[in-house]
Amino acid sequence: MTGSRIVGSGSALPQRIVTNNELAERVDTSDEWIIERTGIRQRHIAGAGETTATLATAAARAALADAGLKAGDIDLIVLATATPDNTFPATATKVQHALGCKNGPAFDVGAVCSGFLYALTTADSLLATGSANRALVIGAETFSRILDWEDRTTCVLFGDGAGAVVLEAPDAANPAKAGGPGVLASRLHADGAQHDLLYVDGGPSSTQTVGHLRMKGPEVFRHAVVNLSSVLKEVIEDADVSASDIDWIVPHQANKRILDATARKLGIPDEKVVVTVDKHANTSAASVPLAFDVARKDGRIKAGDLVMFEAMGGGFTWGASLVRM
Ligand code: ACO
Repeated sequence: MTGSRIVGSGSALPQRIVTNNELAERVDTSDEWIIERTGIRQRHIAGAGETTATLATAAARAALADAGLKAGDIDLIVLATATPDNTFPATATKVQHALGCKNGPAFDVGAVCSGFLYALTTADSLLATGSANRALVIGAETFSRILDWEDRTTCVLFGDGAGAVVLEAPDAANPAKAGGPGVLASRLHADGAQHDLLYVDGGPSSTQTVGHLRMKGPEVFRHAVVNLSSVLKEVIEDADVSASDIDWIVPHQANKRILDATARKLGIPDEKVVVTVDKHANTSAASVPLAFDVARKDGRIKAGDLVMFEAMGGGFTWGASLVRM
């Protein structure tokens, strides 16, 4: 059975762009090294007054406008972030208030870079039960606030931003036709044994501090290619399609080399992979909805297309969803 449909998308980026050359003035790195090893050319970095909630609210407003809906039409908000404005309450509740939504629950999901996949699958499941009709699913991050700006092995990799989609419940009165729009299949995974490969070295209950991101990059890279190819195969099988049926892959934008290696393992040509890592760097939970919005708005992703979302992040957590537009 087809799940809920994506009826709108939006995104938001901080005003300030920071180039690789600007970072090279701060740490021992170079534009050439960053482009060659990651594909990143620039990233947006939040300024004073820009937070995860303000970026999420701007992306949500754009998604509502794109869907032709008002805040009052939304009765569920699921926001994926690892960089909330406050330890509590959930950033989703700040967004709810800023939008003027009053209906239904609003909560955060924490799965770091795969947060959007976790949020999308959670919202799709809640919509399927009939407990809500229209959800805002948001990925929003300000990773610049948890980076160690002296550590060249991590600070060059990340950026800030937000992306959002409006998800509408399958219509019980007019059930989806075969081949019609909607979520076709989703899979989520986690492996807590890999905690130490990618984590933040602080938190309210352990150190009473916010902490900084720490990562063993090459090891994360190896796990990413293996885990992502495996979950993509699972979803392709669940949806009973073949890899060649997929029109677009919208991957988590961690590193151009991971995107290329994963697509190659499935035999999917480069032209079908949406790449924004060059402009946005890794925006964690925001990266998939941001890239999706870019490719929808520039006309690449169209009604009827088969779109695969995939991501892996700290935890480890990883997942994929196949959606007919
Ligand atoms: N500038 C210049 N040199 C650098 C930099 C830098 N910014 N960073 C590292 N180097 C050096 C290293 O010190 C090392 O030098 P050495 O050979 O003298 O020891 C050399 O470059 C090679 O370093 P590696 O770490 O082996 O480089 P690699 O090719 O593996 O690239 C990278 C590193 C980009 C981090 C890569 O491993 C990667 O992308 N990993 C995956 C990251 C990822 O996917 N994260 C996703 C999840 S993120 C999340 O969930 C929040």
